[in-house]
Amino acid sequence: MRTPLVAGNWKMNGTRASVAELMQGLAGETDGLTGVETLVCPSFVFIQQVQELIGKTSIKLGAQDLYVEAGGAFTGEISGPMLADAGCQYVLVGHSERRALMGETDEIVARKFAAAQEHGLVPVLCLGETLDERQSDATMAVISRQFLAVVETVGIEAFRNAVVAYEPVWAIGTGETASPEQAQEVHAALRALAAKRSAKIAADLRLLYGGSVKAANARELFSMPDIDGGLIGGASLQAEEFLAICQAASS
Ligand code: PGA
Repeated sequence: MRTPLVAGNWKMNGTRASVAELMQGLAGETDGLTGVETLVCPSFVFIQQVQELIGKTSIKLGAQDLYVEAGGAFTGEISGPMLADAGCQYVLVGHSERRALMGETDEIVARKFAAAQEHGLVPVLCLGETLDERQSDATMAVISRQFLAVVETVGIEAFRNAVVAYEPVWAIGTGETASPEQAQEVHAALRALAAKRSAKIAADLRLLYGGSVKAANARELFSMPDIDGGLIGGASLQAEEFLAICQAASS
């Protein structure tokens, strides 16, 4: 049985005041939900604040990125051990904004995935095709390349303790969502790809959908057999909206 995960990717948003308000809206509210795990991924500067505000509630804490090395002369970077020490359990790896804007290659993403696990963090590996790639029928080729680049580096066994998020780039922050059928098609293909290496790991692997998920479309997406929750950007910045999405994933 795969427990759905609903993860909020706050991206580069927030102030101490807005973070306090958002967490006040969330903390305690998710505890009554059954059969769903809830995760928030604030900016690095808010991690300690969020960790304190989470307190004893069921909300999990994650970061949006990490560096490949554990420490040393890497000005401006944040390491896996720092995140683990700050109370993070999860970390996003290979988000399309990092791939497109920060030049992260499949190789770097694979190294970050490995670094996360080495330091006890669960990586949430993000994958997705651009609009051009979808329109030229390259969706599965791109998804396979991005997924297998990590599998070849860390081995399929590593996915026993990882999450994968399918996020079509054309659906991120655009208000345009993949239809449940479009998303399910990619999720099923991804699971089949993983199953070629290990049927057991593929069956247990949580596959999240991301890209303009909101309360109004979450239930339909989460009802698909291979969609095990969501990675939520914009809608995760409003407590009520995010809670409604968590509710849609709960049983
Ligand atoms: P969005 O972002 O929900 O705002 O489309 C999703 C993401 O980038 O993780």
